[in-house]
Amino acid sequence: MKRSGLLLLLAFVMLAVQCSCRGKTSSAQTDPTITAYDVERDWTNPDRLIPLNFEQSQGKRVFYEKCVWCHAEATPAGPSNRSNVSPTPSLINDGSILNPLSDEFLRNIITLGGSAMGKSAMMPPWGRTLSQEEIRAVIAYTRAVAQPPYHPPARPASQYSVKQTSKEEGSTK
Ligand code: HEC
Repeated sequence: MKRSGLLLLLAFVMLAVQCSCRGKTSSAQTDPTITAYDVERDWTNPDRLIPLNFEQSQGKRVFYEKCVWCHAEATPAGPSNRSNVSPTPSLINDGSILNPLSDEFLRNIITLGGSAMGKSAMMPPWGRTLSQEEIRAVIAYTRAVAQPPYHPPARPASQYSVKQTSKEEGSTK
C-alpha cells in the first residue's frame, strides 16, 4: 500500500514536470507578429506594436522577402547576414540614418542600387525585381517603423491648417 502510494506520487510529479515543460516550449513558438502584415513589432521596444496601413503592410512583405537578410539583426529563419556585409547596412528602422534621407533618394538607391548612388555595390539594384509600387511600399514601411519616428518634411500647404484659417476668417469677416 505504502509503496503504491509513493509510486502514485512519483507519477504525479513526473506529470507536473512534463506539463510545465510543455508550457515553456509552446510559449517559445515563433512570434505571430512576424507573419502578421498589418502590424510590426517595434524592434527597439518589444512591448510596442506599430499598426501598418495597406501600403506599409505590402512594404513589410517586400522587406521580409528581399531586404531582411541585410537590413535586420535577425530574420524569421534565424540570424541575418548583416554582420558579414561590409559596409554594414543600416537597420531598416534606424531613423537616425534614414529619416534625413528623402523619399526620392531612397527610391533611387533601392531602384538603381548602391553603386549608382556613389555608395557600396553591396546594396543591390531592385528596379528589375520590384515594381515601382512595391518600392514605394517598402519606403512607406521604412518610414512607419523608423526609430526615432519619421516626420515628413513640412510643406507650404501647412498654411491651410484648420486652426489658422478659422482664426483668420474671424478677423477678415
Ligand atoms: C546583400 C545585402 C543587401 C540587401 C539584400 C539589401 N541591401 Fe540595402 N544596403 C546594403 C548595403 C551594404 C548598404 C550600404 C551602402 C553604403 O553605405 O555604401 C545598403 C544601403 C541601403 C539604403 C541606404 C541607406 C543606408 O543604409 O545607407 C537603403 C534605403 C537600402 N539599402 C534599402 C534596401 C531595401 C529596401 C532592400 C530590399 C528591397 C535592400 N536594401 C536590400 C545591402 C543590402
